[in-house]
Amino acid sequence: MAFPAGFGWGAATAAYQVEGGWNADGKGLSVWDTFTHQGGERVFKNQTGDVACGSYTLWEEDLKCIKQLGLTHYRFSLSWSRLLPDGTTGFINQKGIDYYNKIIDDLLANGIIPIVTLYHFDLPQALEDQGGWLSEAIIDSFDRYAQFCFSTFGDRVKQWITINEPNIFSLLTYDIGVFPPCMPHIGTGGYQAAHNLIKAHARSWHSYDSLFRKEQKGMVSITIFGGWVEPADPDSLADREAAQRAIAFLVDFFAKPIFIDGDYPEVVKSQVASMSKKQGYPSSRLPEFTEEEKKMIKGTADFFAVHYYTTRLVKHQENKKAELGVFFDAEIELSTHPSWKNMKWVYVVPWGIRKLLKYIADMYNNPVIYITENGFPQGDPATLDDTQRWEYFKQTFQEVFKAIQLDKVNLKVYCTWSLLDNFEWTDGYSLRFGLFHVDFEDPARPRVPYKSAKEYAKIIRNNGLEGDL
Ligand code: BGC
Repeated sequence: MAFPAGFGWGAATAAYQVEGGWNADGKGLSVWDTFTHQGGERVFKNQTGDVACGSYTLWEEDLKCIKQLGLTHYRFSLSWSRLLPDGTTGFINQKGIDYYNKIIDDLLANGIIPIVTLYHFDLPQALEDQGGWLSEAIIDSFDRYAQFCFSTFGDRVKQWITINEPNIFSLLTYDIGVFPPCMPHIGTGGYQAAHNLIKAHARSWHSYDSLFRKEQKGMVSITIFGGWVEPADPDSLADREAAQRAIAFLVDFFAKPIFIDGDYPEVVKSQVASMSKKQGYPSSRLPEFTEEEKKMIKGTADFFAVHYYTTRLVKHQENKKAELGVFFDAEIELSTHPSWKNMKWVYVVPWGIRKLLKYIADMYNNPVIYITENGFPQGDPATLDDTQRWEYFKQTFQEVFKAIQLDKVNLKVYCTWSLLDNFEWTDGYSLRFGLFHVDFEDPARPRVPYKSAKEYAKIIRNNGLEGDL
């Protein structure tokens, strides 16, 4: 199974999950610093990212891992509050610039292409204090930060992701409120944040397009947390429609405005509007874009970046009591199949990735696609001989190969999550997604390859897998 020549093989990380150095050299606080320091058992064993993998001081160790794998691409994120401690360009932290310059320069010197995410969940606390993503003011702040990053690093960085997983982010932060700033506004906050996230993304894409593209010749996109959904009963029309609604709320909610026409999917608009009416709201809880905004949002991505971890079965579930919440709005109930193995929320369904890729190709006019995350966690302690996990990766690569070969999907880059075991948000260090094991008890934070790392390196070397379809 030979992949197309020039196919990109990467791995990903994110600033708060690996860097540590939470207050080093003038870095400002992010919402994750504040949240983890508050304790209260909202994160597994009250763990924090204060040190994490220590990548702020151990970047060279990360580079060794990257080279050992032979990656063609490395995706990492910039810590906004390391660069701009209070979130604004009023004060710029040169030490932060130096840190990322070194990463970028070292990658390029080794022939590795950086994919840089501007924002991966870690809002500067100072901006959260002014209303965060619920406030429209964030659109300006984000755009200024993005312009600062394009002008500082864009001579060398050509592949940008503005915002990581706005769909999951808006839901966990301002809707159900389990991620900082932990502000549950169930049924409204997620939509309001999503609205601002989309506009902030679009604004920064335009800034790149008008101010930087000509000279820098790069590409800008946004990553969407994808997944696949199958009707629980494929013979039931209601379940088939429920599965369509599920993917519309998950993927198209962000992708349709950005890739197609600047507006939310009709089914999302009508579901939220009719539920809102039943609940006595004067208008839909889903905000509306103005005509001008639609024009501004439409067409603001240069490739389609998506994540795949898992699949769910979907059943139609009428919202009889008009309860509040995204799943109630979508009138869906999710479940899993008893034959699917899992570690926490990640149920292993390798064929789901092929279906997701095909869906994107069909819906979005066969765009260039990057899988910017895909992976399987182990629990803690994790075994270095992760044969079973490698089997999942292999099956996934087979499905990805079928998507390229048989479905003619225009997939150009695949990144695993993650290069290293790291701080897995509210699961702390209890879930290990890395290709390299990190000993979080040892101050030197040694990185040791799992079997999966060695096998992935072979796939990269051969640009494909053994065997045929
Ligand atoms: C996020 C990562 C996270 C991974 C595994 C994605 O939702 O982008 O930050 O660690 O999934 O949960």
